[in-house]
Amino acid sequence: MTAVDERSGPTRPFPPGFVWGVATSSYQIEGAVDADGRGPSIWDAFSRVPGAVAAGESGDPACDHYRRWPQDVELMAGLGVDAYRFSVAWPRVFPDGGGRADRRGLDFYRRLVDALNERGITPFVTLYHWDLPQALEERGGWRVRETAERFAEYAATVHGALDGVPYWITLNEPYCSSITGYAEGRHAPGAREGHGALAAAHHLLVGHGLAVARMRATARPGERIGVTLNMSPAVPASPSAEDAAAARRMDLMVNRQFTDPLLGGAYPGDMAEVYGEISDFSFRRDGDLALVSAPLDFLGVNYYYPIHAAAAPYGQPDPALRSAFDIGVRTVAPDGPPVSGLGWRIEPRGLHDTLTGLAGRYPGLPPVFITENGYGDAGELDDTGRIAYLRDHLAAAAEAIGAGVDVRGYFCWSLLDNFEWARGYAARFGLVHVDYATQARTPKASYHWYRETIAGQR
Ligand code: FCB
Repeated sequence: MTAVDERSGPTRPFPPGFVWGVATSSYQIEGAVDADGRGPSIWDAFSRVPGAVAAGESGDPACDHYRRWPQDVELMAGLGVDAYRFSVAWPRVFPDGGGRADRRGLDFYRRLVDALNERGITPFVTLYHWDLPQALEERGGWRVRETAERFAEYAATVHGALDGVPYWITLNEPYCSSITGYAEGRHAPGAREGHGALAAAHHLLVGHGLAVARMRATARPGERIGVTLNMSPAVPASPSAEDAAAARRMDLMVNRQFTDPLLGGAYPGDMAEVYGEISDFSFRRDGDLALVSAPLDFLGVNYYYPIHAAAAPYGQPDPALRSAFDIGVRTVAPDGPPVSGLGWRIEPRGLHDTLTGLAGRYPGLPPVFITENGYGDAGELDDTGRIAYLRDHLAAAAEAIGAGVDVRGYFCWSLLDNFEWARGYAARFGLVHVDYATQARTPKASYHWYRETIAGQR
């Protein structure tokens, strides 16, 4: 039996106009990797590396959304969401990373945007959710500035081509694109570098800044431009000064490395100290920070869990971090409270603290959208764990709003079960179950719960 309170929605009312949404990303759902001239992305290449992705899986065919999208739009309409956050696949628009745009790729997104608008669902478009054209990786990827320039070109092209998109998100989680992809090697392109990863982080931010400048110059009335960061509060594992310092180092790597330049116009003062011997920042150029910190219309925050950090002896890096460099930190799993079906810690307080922490650290913080939050499991249809997770995180968000943080919306990750990167298809985050053999979609209990929750807030 399911406890009744697990089924109930958040009790606090959200402000009028609060945006209720769902999120996905291109490589995780589209499939159709060769359709209409699409070029390979770093995830197509990485997925072919033995051992890189669980069970040797890849984003082919994922949810075959490229062909089945009308059905997925119907599922969203049935949920009653106000908005849909999805990403554009760069290699559909520029199969080789640059040159002439392929109209067929752009037409796919045009049709999707039109169908959403016809249904009264507001499109939130992410321009880069990790599927870099492989051709650009072969020229250095995010380690080199040229990729930032190509990104701006691509952003301007998509922005010019897609009418009817009021919200634009340049990047999704530059931390993952740089550190997870270029230092830990857990994500594409699978590199394990120190300096290269820091260069990637900077060039992602520069790419964001260049793209914002290009889009601002041609923005249509009412369009809003932002960026999405994954944020995890770094919690010291003990009250010791050593663990507090370790948590600060972790906070720098995951959060402040990105929020300080974007929202504060400066890199954190402790960056060289934390990164030690790989602290060669010669890739920074005069004017970069002004570009990176150009005002945003909103900030997207993705929150899943906090990180508990303890000091670790240098030279004995945390195997869980698998990083090519060493910041003297070990992540720890404290005893007690629950973990998700994937073993991720469940601490809704971390969402509240992330939101209030941002508002405290950055005066003039733009309005925030929670652009991802969700729960992974093995795919049960009666997914009470997901319902409880969503309910408690919504309550934490409501509390942060009550404390004065300007949070404008919430996007559940994800509409559909999908290709969960290195974990492949075994990890499922959807409100809707996908049978990958038949592509049948089945709404889970959480889908019905979310629909009722949204309806109850109207
Ligand atoms: C985030 C990613 C998203 C999804 C969720 C579970 O880090 O942005 O694509 O994989 O995690």
